[in-house]
Amino acid sequence: MITPPPDINPPDVAALLGGLSAPLAAIATRSGDVVNAQIAVAITAASIVLHRPRLIVQIYHTNYTHDLIAASGVMAVNFLNHDQLPLIWQLGMRSGRHCDKLAGIPYTAGATGSPLLAGSFGYLDCRVVNAMDGGDLTAFLVEALAGQTNGGARLAWRDARPRLPQRWADEWDRKIAGELDVSLDNMSHINPAAWANPPATWQR
Ligand SMILES: Cc1cc2nc3c(=O)[nH]c(=O)nc-3n(C[C@H](O)[C@H](O)[C@H](O)COP(=O)(O)O)c2cc1C
Repeated sequence: MITPPPDINPPDVAALLGGLSAPLAAIATRSGDVVNAQIAVAITAASIVLHRPRLIVQIYHTNYTHDLIAASGVMAVNFLNHDQLPLIWQLGMRSGRHCDKLAGIPYTAGATGSPLLAGSFGYLDCRVVNAMDGGDLTAFLVEALAGQTNGGARLAWRDARPRLPQRWADEWDRKIAGELDVSLDNMSHINPAAWANPPATWQR
C-alpha cells in the first residue's frame, strides 16, 4: 500500500483531470479470428501532421482488448455518436473474455481487419507504432492507416455521464472501485522495455 504524497489532494486532482477532454470511443481490434471492442476515454491526439494522424490510447492491462491489441498491433478507434449511449453498457461494463460483445452490433472490417462500427461519428483505423508500460495500463502510440467522419455529433463522457440510466451508473461506480485497487497495486511495477516485437502484419 502506497501512502499518497501529502501535497496531493484527491478532490483537487479530480477537478483538474476531470476537466480534460474525454472523447468516448469504442476501441475495436481483431487478432486472428477473434474480434472484440471496449470503451475508452483516455485518448489524445499525438500528431500535428494531418496526413499522418496519430493518437495515444491508454488501455488497462486487465482488459481482454489489451491482450488482443498486444498480439495483433492493430485497433480501430470508433468515436461514438450522440445516439450510441447503449454501447457504453454493451462494450464498457463487461469483458469480451466471457462473451461475444460484438454479436448484434453491425460493423465492417477496416484495412487492419479491426471492426469499424456502423453509425459512429467517425473512425481511425490504426496500427501500433510504439507503446509505453504504465504498470496498470499501456499507452499505445497508434498511427491511422485510414479514417473518415460519418456525420452526427460526437458523444463526450461529460455529456454521456448524466444520461446514464441509474443501473448503469451504479454498475460503473462498482466497476471503477474494483479497478482502482488493481491500479494501485500495479502502477509501480513498470516494465521499461519498449514495444520490441511488433507483429509482422503491421510493420512498414
Ligand atoms: C465511460 C468509460 C470509459 C472507459 N475508459 C477506458 C479507458 O480509457 N481505457 C481502458 O482501458 N478502459 C476504459 N474503460 C473500461 C473498459 O471499457 C472496460 O473495462 C471493458 O469492460 C473492457 O472490456 P474487455 O475486457 O472486453 O476489453 C472505460 C469504460 C467506460 C464505461
